[in-house]
Amino acid sequence: MSQKRIHGGVAVWALDGCGATPRHTEEELEQQAMEQKKAKRILVTGGAGFLGSHLCDRLIAEGHSVLCVDNFHTGSRGNLAQHTLNPQLKVMQHDIVWPLHVRVDEIYNLACPASPVHYQHDPVHTVKTNVYGAINLLGLAKRTGAKIFQASTSEVYGDPKVHPQKEDYWGHVNPTGIRSCYDEGKRCAETLFFDYHRRYAVRVKVARIFNTYGPRMQIDDGRVVSNFIVQALSGMPITIYGDGSQTRSFCYVSDMIEAFVRLMGSPDEFCGPVNLGNPHEMTVLELAEKILDLTGSRSQIVFKPLPSDDPCLRRPDIGLAKEKLGWEPRVHLEEGLVRTIEYFDALLRKGRRQVQPAQAAMAAMHG
Ligand SMILES: NC(=O)c1ccc[n+]([C@@H]2O[C@H](COP(=O)([O-])OP(=O)(O)OC[C@H]3O[C@@H](n4cnc5c(N)ncnc54)[C@H](O)[C@@H]3O)[C@@H](O)[C@H]2O)c1
Repeated sequence: MSQKRIHGGVAVWALDGCGATPRHTEEELEQQAMEQKKAKRILVTGGAGFLGSHLCDRLIAEGHSVLCVDNFHTGSRGNLAQHTLNPQLKVMQHDIVWPLHVRVDEIYNLACPASPVHYQHDPVHTVKTNVYGAINLLGLAKRTGAKIFQASTSEVYGDPKVHPQKEDYWGHVNPTGIRSCYDEGKRCAETLFFDYHRRYAVRVKVARIFNTYGPRMQIDDGRVVSNFIVQALSGMPITIYGDGSQTRSFCYVSDMIEAFVRLMGSPDEFCGPVNLGNPHEMTVLELAEKILDLTGSRSQIVFKPLPSDDPCLRRPDIGLAKEKLGWEPRVHLEEGLVRTIEYFDALLRKGRRQVQPAQAAMAAMHG
């Protein structure tokens, strides 16, 4: 028997065990109000993470009702603290490896740890998140008729032999290495998205995201931009893996969120996959030097051995995104880095303020 339940603060979303919930007056009223405003009910999985929280900000600002589903593995409620009292956002703690029954108009599937240190922590769970998670959410899209967006990755190209990477390149991926749980998991998820589209006419949108950076990246996630900034601000040596000649291209978060929203709003026949990223390519050494310059840090650069399967070249061809979405990044690297440095600087200062009284108390206790 279906029943209305309150789960994680979600009252009007009509969660139930079989997906067929009778309409309640409260729901009908919300539905009518939303139809008048052209607002949608949007599910964001991984909504408490770096990209997910910025996406929630954007969708809420546009007047939509957002349900954030997250297991809080790498995300945090703090990333959404600005919406604590906002009825447009509901947060549900849930792991997408398990089925989910809610009624929504659109689904953005961002749930998956994105940095190697986190996705390698429990590689089997990473595969489950990508594969079972995709099946569960595609099943939800199929049942409800919702449109569904998949946060895929440039990692589907592996260590590419074609440069820059275009969407028709099938990639060069190690299926058995330490990055495979993520790379192959995301590749399988893409397969599932296109199978559900062909077999069940589910409206899908697959984005291949290249390196994105900005405020709310985690301080300890080992990604190159956050690593370098935190090391520079703390006066610690900047660690470069390899000789620093490997290239990357970095897209600022607001540009990426704009692309997500445009892709979701594109005509149903356009499913992707589409590369989203900044085509401006630089070496990792150049990035380190730029961050040293912008922070005024005197940190030394140290070189360490390259981890296995680290890609040498990474740069998107964004011709398709330009043509189909009218999109290209606008935020200049320097501008984006300054905003990100300010964010980490404030975070580190706050951490020091909290640590110092505790240290003083400890020192007093030990005389
Ligand atoms: N940031 C990038 O540069 C980048 C590049 C390529 C692809 N992506 C993809 O974009 C998405 C978001 O990346 P991000 O940088 O915001 O990472 P993130 O780690 O900050 O966010 C991921 C979020 O998903 C949640 N999550 C993880 N596994 C889950 C599960 N099984 N069930 C429910 N929630 C789960 C985490 O707690 C976190 O809030 C990921 O799918 C990632 O693969 C990101």
